[in-house]
Amino acid sequence: MTGSDATSAAAPVDTSRPHPARVYDWWLGGKDNYPVDEELARTILAADDTAVRGARANRRFMHRAVRTLAEAGVRQFLDIGTGIPTEPNLHQVAQAVAPEARVVYADNDPIVLRHAEALLHGSAEGSTEYVHADVRDPETILRLAAESLDFARPVALSLVALTHYLGDAADGDDVHGLLKRYVDALAPGSYLVLSQVTPDLNPEAVGKAAGLFARSGTPFYPRSLGEFSRFFDGLELLGPGVIPVTGWRPDPEDVAVQAEGIVPVYAGVARKV
Ligand SMILES: C[S@@+](CC[C@H](N)C(=O)[O-])C[C@H]1O[C@@H](n2cnc3c(N)ncnc32)[C@H](O)[C@@H]1O
Repeated sequence: MTGSDATSAAAPVDTSRPHPARVYDWWLGGKDNYPVDEELARTILAADDTAVRGARANRRFMHRAVRTLAEAGVRQFLDIGTGIPTEPNLHQVAQAVAPEARVVYADNDPIVLRHAEALLHGSAEGSTEYVHADVRDPETILRLAAESLDFARPVALSLVALTHYLGDAADGDDVHGLLKRYVDALAPGSYLVLSQVTPDLNPEAVGKAAGLFARSGTPFYPRSLGEFSRFFDGLELLGPGVIPVTGWRPDPEDVAVQAEGIVPVYAGVARKV
């Protein structure tokens, strides 16, 4: 396990205000959240009744995308904004296909750091590592990830349900420029795996949810199909392209979730050629 610096690694868990990782954990039925997180999770769910099935559908997309890429021969994974461990985690999906797969997780939330031990029990043949750092610091994440991943060879880079916490250039984040810096560091044959909330499918409810997140201290940026698709500029999208998350190469159980109604989350996977 490694951190961007000793101070951030030692940061206490702040239970006075809700945190995205813990709100998401509540929607997934986890126990690693506090009353402030549950209160926001319930308030958002009341405004946007897709929140719980969206979180579950998003998690299942991560499983399908990672399995697809491991079956295609990818053996290195860098997962940023990994979240509180919820089994199966990414390394378990990848190493079930390829035990020698090497995985690096990164997140900036102290509660994820506290649970990182659970992310580090990988297969004997492979490796799993955890980096405590902010996605806005690509130099640190890439440098620390390079201690166990070989960036001269293909890497699957995933930011699943993360980019909606990052603003555009006008908001000071320039999320599209940030992602380009990560993609530029990848070798040809690498992949980019993304999902994020969109206002396109359920604008009123998603607008309310975004407002509630923002008022709780977490700015939230739903993106249209065009804005989300732009993350994949210059890359080769895998079929079926950018699509609502439940439709990305669904398993039979995902078809059942689709029948429950809209999930306002886009997803896509693309290859660097
Ligand atoms: C909604 S959860 C998604 C977890 C997991 N990727 C999944 O899809 O199941 C978003 C995660 O991104 C993390 N996160 C938010 N902002 C971040 C930042 N600036 N840098 C690193 N991680 C961040 C949160 O702590 C949280 O764990």
